[in-house]
Amino acid sequence: MNELQNDTFIRALLRQPTEYTPVWMMRQAGRYLPEYRESRKTAGSFLSLCKNPDFATEVTLQPIDRYPLDASILFSDILTVPDAMGLGLYFEEGEGPKFEFPANNEERIAALEVPDMSKLQYVFDAVKQIRMGIAGRVPLIGFTGSPWTLATYMVEGKGGTDFLTIKKLMYSRPELVHRILQINTDTIIAYLNAQIASGAQAIMIFDSWGGALSHNAYIEFSLNYMRKIISGLTLESNGSKIPSIVFTKGGGLWLEQQATLGADALGLDWTIDIGSARRRVGDKVALQGNMDPAVLLSDPNSIEKEVETILSSYGKGTGHVFNLGHGITQWTPPENAAAMINAVHELSKKYHSP
Ligand code: CP3
Repeated sequence: MNELQNDTFIRALLRQPTEYTPVWMMRQAGRYLPEYRESRKTAGSFLSLCKNPDFATEVTLQPIDRYPLDASILFSDILTVPDAMGLGLYFEEGEGPKFEFPANNEERIAALEVPDMSKLQYVFDAVKQIRMGIAGRVPLIGFTGSPWTLATYMVEGKGGTDFLTIKKLMYSRPELVHRILQINTDTIIAYLNAQIASGAQAIMIFDSWGGALSHNAYIEFSLNYMRKIISGLTLESNGSKIPSIVFTKGGGLWLEQQATLGADALGLDWTIDIGSARRRVGDKVALQGNMDPAVLLSDPNSIEKEVETILSSYGKGTGHVFNLGHGITQWTPPENAAAMINAVHELSKKYHSP
């Protein structure tokens, strides 16, 4: 495979010296880009973009072709996994993801199984094709949802809920929720290892809804399963280390616990000061984040100020990957994303002097 021309992102995750702070954006291939909207129109729907490796490759490369980003991320969705389990994923225009057959009663939960990975072959094919398309410019990140985050969609049957269906089950029949989480964990280990075997050069776990849990429930129902995943991964491939990132949105209260997961880096949302996060985790992990995506709705001057605030709060030295605190919004003017990326590259050099 192609040798990496820019490995700044990988070095920052491994807390090795870099010349500047690397940057990428969650949801960097998405609706704020006119070329993405065009591809989506041609494909017919979001899911056909995901399920066709040619389209998935095309849209993964769009932000890389447009901006000097330091990493690319596989274009797919976390919900392809429960889809492969037979839950029937569909998207209704403007309403987000839904499942035809949610795992919301004892029979359906008992019937859940680890799916055959051939059902997700289109993802592995996309990873291989994207690696060829990137041609070594930057690393490719593979990803998954966390067991808990996938379970919220599987039980609730849709997004945008208050999680009361799954929480009721968690408090009244915890063994049923543990069964879902164990199946998700076994599936995710196979899924991520197949992404790594296909060419993913770093992996990220999106625990988007871990922050909805109480302290004890977070440890028992989300963190402990992510720990099993990290220890089940092939973390070396072709002689290089595959760094891992864990992102619990709303998880700033539990950084000390997350730092013991065995992951190389933790993602931060915008609610926490990255400097105090750094002092709390010490030299255990790198940090990724954490600008409020809404900053990108402002103007280049305001964006530069926010970038500087985050860089200076993190301070000197390696171990920081700049990112947004959650996905870029569809209302972002593309030139504002360019302003952020350039500001990170320029303003961060002074924090990396030898
Ligand atoms: O970051 C990237 O560019 C890679 C692609 C990616 C997508 N989804 C594409 C997408 C990644 C990493 C995801 C992860 C994902 N998907 C998460 C975890 C991250 C997070 O946002 O918390 C979650 C919770 C999902 C589930 C999901 N997919 C939702 C709730 C939605 C609807 C919300 C929305 O923004 O419309 C999606 C759809 C989705 N996934 C889109 C994209 C580009 C928009 C689809 C479209 O209409 O074109």
